[in-house]
Formats: sequence, structure tokens, C-alpha cells
Amino acid sequence: MTNQHQALPFPRDFLWGGATSNVQAEGGIDEGGKGINVYDSLVVTPEPGVEPIYSDTAVASDHYHRYAEDIALMAQMGLKAHRFSIVWSRIFPNGDEAEPNEAGLAYYESMVDELHGHGIEPVASLLHFDMPDHLRVAYNGFASREVVDLHTRYVEAVLTRLAGKVRYWITANEINTAPLFPRLVAGSEQPDGDDPIAYQALVRHNILLAQARAALAIRDLAPDAKIGCMIYYGPSYPASSKPQDVTAARWVNDLLFHLPLDVIVRGEYPAWYPLYLKRRGVALPAQPGDVETLAAGAAVNDYIAFSYYQTGMITGPDGWGAPAAEDALVQNYFFGGEKNPHLDRTAWGWQIDPEGIRTAAASLYARYGKPVFIVENGMGVDEEPSEASGIVEDDYRIAFHTGHVEALRQAIHIDGVPVIGYLVWAPFDILSSHKEMRKRYGFIHINRTHDDLRDLARTPKKSFHWYRRVIASDGVDLGAE
Ligand code: BG6
Repeated sequence: MTNQHQALPFPRDFLWGGATSNVQAEGGIDEGGKGINVYDSLVVTPEPGVEPIYSDTAVASDHYHRYAEDIALMAQMGLKAHRFSIVWSRIFPNGDEAEPNEAGLAYYESMVDELHGHGIEPVASLLHFDMPDHLRVAYNGFASREVVDLHTRYVEAVLTRLAGKVRYWITANEINTAPLFPRLVAGSEQPDGDDPIAYQALVRHNILLAQARAALAIRDLAPDAKIGCMIYYGPSYPASSKPQDVTAARWVNDLLFHLPLDVIVRGEYPAWYPLYLKRRGVALPAQPGDVETLAAGAAVNDYIAFSYYQTGMITGPDGWGAPAAEDALVQNYFFGGEKNPHLDRTAWGWQIDPEGIRTAAASLYARYGKPVFIVENGMGVDEEPSEASGIVEDDYRIAFHTGHVEALRQAIHIDGVPVIGYLVWAPFDILSSHKEMRKRYGFIHINRTHDDLRDLARTPKKSFHWYRRVIASDGVDLGAE
């Protein structure tokens, strides 16, 4: 039987688009007064099971110099929205200066103007692996309250300049991963001898506080702005119907995803969290006034943004009650990674689960009642242009996105989820979060390798033409040719 919803179009105002993190795209590492940031200085820990080949961040995709060309190509693809990040260390090179760097503000203003000139809606992220490295070295990043203040100053400087030009704001990228990847996400490292759970609770709290203050600053300076925070969302399935597996999956999902979203959207920690900390001998690191700030920040939140790449799978321990066993599950979710036998995987071991994006969107809407915005979804592949056609024939990428778009259609038309948009990662090839040029997500090929910059020429891949047809048909035409 044919699915009666298959041909239903997406809403006319649906934001089809692309997304980048500018530290992974720009290069121009020491130009325009920019300071070194935590991505530039990162010494990468390889992904499990992957032999890494790193690239430096000095040139990346040279988006710093070629953003106009890239935006023109995105417009040709028909993109209606483009998510980019404002690199904090371009605005405050060290992070603790009294005044912002004019060249950095002017740079992003011209990028925004360029997007508007092509009819593309800018979606600006305010924290995406780009904390000035000085704040890591001198303050230990978001483990410090001073950095929360410095972050607010940065947000105010950006808003003062761009409030009238950018409507969609994302206060922080994948904020929920800060306790697990603190160096890159929060510019911080666990001091030797610190209790890991106490340290994670501190970083979690301070970065949530920083995002609440960012949301308030945005609402203050841009009253009509659309404000969202952003999490990495890879909900975990139980490995089986065994009740212990179900309990374990629930546990991981509550800690990694629902806990931060409860704060961001509902304005308070879930009732179980103080007990979770107490069982580990840790007190909630809140200071007077924080509870009110978190509540006020949540009150100005408009939508839930999330990245979606894959789902997880969890096997539960036979007995519950030991906090260490629960904490090990969370570590295992990110760093061990049980594999779901029902799903294919990329060469990097990322599980391909289109159906999961529907579950993700629908479950967040059911729980929080806020519109959702998929601001990253993509497939990283080591690929080359075909010798015959001269372009990357990325049918696997077309199949990947076809599956996810189809599942989103069902989320909208069957599950009744208000979805603001779908931003692919990434419109053009950029460095991975692990500084790998070889792991390509783009719809436009960049002619460079990890160690040879070649001519950095931009060439649309086969998926470029596919996405243009999808957008032009409001998501009805998903055909590969
Ligand atoms: C998200 C990040 O986690 O996933 C991006 O917001 C990142 O910055 C993307 O690039 C894909 O992950 P990776 O590690 O393959 O680049």
C-alpha cells in the first residue's frame, strides 16, 4: 500500500538550508585580528576505531576569503537558510579585552549582508568550539564564573551590531556535550584530583547559565528575535526489550538530553537531579540568583534546535543502585558505542538511522511543546570526484538525506510536529570536529586534501542538484536524478 503522506509538501515557509561551524570552515587563522581559539589549539583524541589524518585549521576551506563565492553557490542550490557561527575569538581575540575587535564584527556583518543579498535567512550560533584559547589557559573556561561574565559581554557586543539583521539565534552548540567534551565545548579541562561528577556538574551549570544569560541579552537587544539553544540529540534505544536495557536507555537519555533541555526550556533542573548529585556526594553548584536567571532565560526560549546524526543503543547492567555503574553507562554511550544490528554505519562507525529523526523530533515536541529545528544532519564520507564525470557522485549522501527528509515529512504530517527547518551538515566540505578534511559532509566539493591545499576550487556534487530539486518542490521531489 502506498504511503498516503509520501507526496505531501513541506510547509511553504520551511527553512531548507545548510549549517557550518565557522572554525571548521574559515581558516584565516591569524587574520582580521583573530585570536587562537580552543579548536585551533586542540590536540585531537581520535574517534574510536579510526586512524586519524589531521589537517591544520590555518586555511580550512578558506571560507574566510571565499564566503561570498560560497554563499552564491548556496543560493544556486536554493538554500533558504544558512546557519553559521560567529567565532568568539574574532570578536574578542583573548576573550577578556574591554572592547570588541571591530574587524571581527565587520566581517560577520558583511557575511550576514551577503546572505540577505541572496535571500538566505541567517541563523547565527554564538558558541561553537570557538572560545578564545586564552580563556581556557588563564581561567579554565566555563569552569569559571568569570568566563560566564565574559561570554555575556561577547554576546552583547555581537547583538549590539547584528540585532537588526539576524532573526534566528542559537545560543550555544551541542551544549549538552560540555560535561563530556569540556575542552572543545566549554574551553575547560578537569583539574587533576577533582571529582569528575562535581567537575561535570560545575561545567554543566555554568554553561547553562551562560546560555540563559545569552538568551536574555538577545531578547533585550533584539525583541523580535527567534531564540533557541541547541543540543546534540542521539537518543538511545534499549538493546532489547529486557527491562534492564529499557531502564538503562531511559537513564542515559534523561541525563544527556532531558536534563539540559529541562533547564533550557522549563527553566529548572529536573527534580531527580539534586538526588543524583547527592548520591555521588556532590552539591548543586548554583549561586544566589542562578535559579532566577535560568528561569528567566527559559521564558524567552522560542524553539528547540538539535543536531541529529545517529541514534545510540544501550545494554543495561543486571543490578541497579551503584552510581558508578550508571556513570559508566553514560561514558559507554559516547566512548564505547554498542552497535545496533539493524542499522548500517558510515566508515566512522556512525549509525545511519533515518527513522530516528522522526522519533527525535516527535519525542521532543511531545515532551516540551516547542517547535523543533533540525540544525545539523549529514553523512561524513572519504570521497573523491569521479574520473569520468569530474564531480563527486555521492548517491549514498542522496540516499541518506532522502531517508531523513522522508522521516521528517512523517513527523510533520503524521505526528503533528511543528518543524521550523532542516539544515544539512554541510553545504560545502569543511574540517570535521576532529580536524579531518578527509571526512567530508559537503554538497559542494572543496579541492584540497589534508596536506595539499591544491586550488581550493568549489565544485557542486551530485547531491547539490538533488537538494536544489528537493527545495524547489517543497520536499515533494526526492528523486535521485
Ligand atoms: C556536530 C558538531 O557534533 O557534529 C559539528 O556541531 C561537527 O561541529 C558535526 O562537525 C559532525 O561531526 P564530525 O566530528 O564528523 O565533524
